[in-house]
Amino acid sequence: MGALLEVSGLEAYYGRAHILQGVGFAMARGEVLALMGRNGAGKSTTMKALMGLVPPARGSVSFEGRRIDGREPFEIARLGIGYVPEERRVFSELSVMENLAVGQRPLREGVPHWTPDRLFALFPNLGRMRDRPAGAMSGGEQQMLTIARTLMGNPSLVLLDEPSEGLAPVIVEEMARTILALKGERLSILLSEQNLHFAGQVADRVAIIEKGVIRFTGAMDTLKADETVRAQYLSV
Ligand SMILES: Nc1ncnc2c1ncn2[C@@H]1O[C@H](COP(=O)(O)OP(=O)(O)OP(=O)(O)O)[C@@H](O)[C@H]1O
Ligand SMILES: [Mg+2]
Repeated sequence: MGALLEVSGLEAYYGRAHILQGVGFAMARGEVLALMGRNGAGKSTTMKALMGLVPPARGSVSFEGRRIDGREPFEIARLGIGYVPEERRVFSELSVMENLAVGQRPLREGVPHWTPDRLFALFPNLGRMRDRPAGAMSGGEQQMLTIARTLMGNPSLVLLDEPSEGLAPVIVEEMARTILALKGERLSILLSEQNLHFAGQVADRVAIIEKGVIRFTGAMDTLKADETVRAQYLSV
């Protein structure tokens, strides 16, 4: 079986600004890949280009063997890619249960099938506040709810844009445990991160982006052992 996701020579612009200048990497099924790089390196833009929210100008994206570049975001989501953007998007007026209902999509073969009860096993906090309006939850709880709602779509690949950002240290640890539990459910996860401590706990492999180009790909253990690469491309 080929790669789950294969990105090659991906380029994208905001107006005339050439942001992605040839992004290439691949992911295997069941893998957690951390896309790392400094502020403004192009992590979020890469995710938006994968989702079709920023149209790729050149290059290709294949998901489960199908070309998805050039497709509409709703179509890409329907093929099984879930996306959790940097800014949390909960429906503040709706309860936890209602937020989850909004995310529900038909089952897909060979993909974990999520129900609110299965999600509450992974996110016990959410289970304790099923009827609470999302607007009355903490930032960390809203972040978890956004992820849980995305899982209700039964994706086979989830893109998490900086899941640890802005969370208190104890919640960051909880997020790491949650991501490892999702990996245990054989979900494939692409996450963008600046926090090497966090990424180091959850990711199997790393791709480092700088100025819209992938400069390093390798095992997380290789990156941990390579001070030169870390000093060159990461803020550590
Ligand atoms: N909507 C936009 N219009 C114009 N330029 C943008 C827009 N969004 C991002 N950029 C620029 O594109 C470049 C890449 O931004 P991107 O958000 O992908 O970086 P990032 O790696 O996600 O950074 P961060 O760690 O700060 O989230 C930056 O120079 C940024 O200023
Ligand atoms: Mg970003």
